[in-house]
Amino acid sequence: MITVDVPGKVYIAGEYAVLEPGGTAVLVAVDRYLTVSLTPAEGSARRTIATARTGEHRVELTRCGTRSVPADGDSATADALRHVLTAVDLVECYAREQGSGPLGFHLEIRSQLDDHSTGRKFGLGSSGAVTVGVVRALTQAYRFDLDDQSLLRLALLTTFTVDPRCSGGDVAASLLGGWVAYRAPDRSRLAQIVARSGTRLTDLLAEPWDHLSARRVPAPRRMRLEVGWTRHPAVSSDLVELLRHNAIGDGPVFRRFVADSNACVATLIAALESGDDASAVAAVAAAGALLRTVSARAGVVVETTELAALRHAAEAVGAVAKSSGAGGGDCGIALITPTRAAKLHQRWRAVGILPLELEVHQPFSGKGKDQ
Ligand code: PMV
Ligand code: MG
Repeated sequence: MITVDVPGKVYIAGEYAVLEPGGTAVLVAVDRYLTVSLTPAEGSARRTIATARTGEHRVELTRCGTRSVPADGDSATADALRHVLTAVDLVECYAREQGSGPLGFHLEIRSQLDDHSTGRKFGLGSSGAVTVGVVRALTQAYRFDLDDQSLLRLALLTTFTVDPRCSGGDVAASLLGGWVAYRAPDRSRLAQIVARSGTRLTDLLAEPWDHLSARRVPAPRRMRLEVGWTRHPAVSSDLVELLRHNAIGDGPVFRRFVADSNACVATLIAALESGDDASAVAAVAAAGALLRTVSARAGVVVETTELAALRHAAEAVGAVAKSSGAGGGDCGIALITPTRAAKLHQRWRAVGILPLELEVHQPFSGKGKDQ
């Protein structure tokens, strides 16, 4: 059996701007995991999946052309499994190019990325994590020797196929672990390359992509990352649609925001690399302020009342804080001197924010290097 534990993620800075080609973000992989276990189906090409999302029972897959679909034809199941099915299809496409016959398998998917008692999502990136988990487990089952950068591209292609509105930052963090600097590729150019007849996945995984970069960066030297949950799940794709639609109507404002956000993330990365915590903290504060300004201009609530309360409580104990990810609910983050963390938890609880008590997931000892 192959078992892969994939960490969840939080965004530190660069949200929304990272959706543009060459847009940058910093994210952190955290120690809540999604686990994918793969058992090869000995002597059979039967493929089954079990996950809480589909009610635990085994979903059998069948092929419809080159696409995998639930054998019972249930569209709700197909929708719930769309990242899994697309990852399976892309790995199998790669396998055909390598001359490997199709493998039978059973996949079990277990997630700690949602609240255990209520099933509500924390916003720690379960779509990205399940994509990385299936890609890692299945490429291992086929015994493909792919480095982290090739696995990243396979997982990004999966993500962009399922929803071209995602930046892929969550995939990069879940795949590389630790603190990660991510620069997004040009997704529409990639889609054109994929659609071109004769494009081989093998070549796409081996060649550098314009703009794309994903690499680990050092954590701040003396600051702790804290994550607070608002208890309100948010749907990122709705917010992304709304903010971009409203803000792009005001083209120069959005372009200015993207340029300012990228500059802020560049400052943050340089500060992390040189161990300058004070500049890192200032860059995170500036990134949060940029998000508040652009979202107010676009009339989209990124920093909800709860997220504002999270930030104010953190600022009152000397921390820097902001919404994390698309906002509208989910989580916020804070960077704080470790000795003040207990005080921060107390203040957060007092305003209804649940401290998630996460640690940074330390990186896999993979063979990955920056492309
Ligand atoms: O809320 P999350 O964790 O899904 O993050 C969304 C971040 C965005 O930049 C708004 C979208 C994306 O895909 O990067
Ligand atoms: Mg979110």
